[in-house]
Amino acid sequence: MEIIKADLSKLDELSEFSAQFFDEIWSTSSFESEIKKTNSAVFCAVNDNDEICGVACIENQYGDGYLHNIAVNTALRKQGIGKILTDKCADFIKSNGVNKIFLEVRVSNLPAIKLYEKIGFKTVATRKGFYSNPTEDAYSMILELD
Ligand SMILES: CC(C)(COP(=O)(O)OP(=O)(O)OC[C@H]1O[C@@H](n2cnc3c(N)ncnc32)[C@H](O)[C@@H]1OP(=O)(O)O)[C@@H](O)C(=O)NCCC(=O)NCCS
Repeated sequence: MEIIKADLSKLDELSEFSAQFFDEIWSTSSFESEIKKTNSAVFCAVNDNDEICGVACIENQYGDGYLHNIAVNTALRKQGIGKILTDKCADFIKSNGVNKIFLEVRVSNLPAIKLYEKIGFKTVATRKGFYSNPTEDAYSMILELD
């Protein structure tokens, strides 16, 4: 397993992979836009056949990091890939001179919440009805980087 920073050659595969986990907000054009930005990075975990097994997207938004999404192939979860991808996002954001990462997560998404807590994120707020399909509250979480 290797972590790569995605370029446009990965776009179709990235969109197909992500459609399993994210809603329509994360279309092909969303990934295309993030890949093209110099202040964003889309990291992919790829296997020996260069197939995507995990993805995470981070952006430096006006001096704050924002983790847009992360997902790992269902069959490969609980093997540390999510943590490696999140650490990679943190390294990217630190190299941008940014020392905070924000994210939102569904309050029912225990695997993701546990992953973020393991990395050091703290819950700072609950945002009522933040998500749709289905409607659900979000926790806002922050990681302070050294
Ligand atoms: C959240 C997600 C990315 C985690 O990926 P992963 O590769 O399984 O995570 P890791 O193996 O790196 O786990 C790191 C830590 O997270 C926690 N964790 C991960 N999955 C967990 C689960 N199912 N239950 C409880 N804790 C869990 C554990 O603390 C784990 O450390 P440990 O294995 O030493 O106990 C994965 O479950 C996923 O793709 N979910 C669907 C997409 C999603 O909901 N993304 C988040 C949107 S905000």
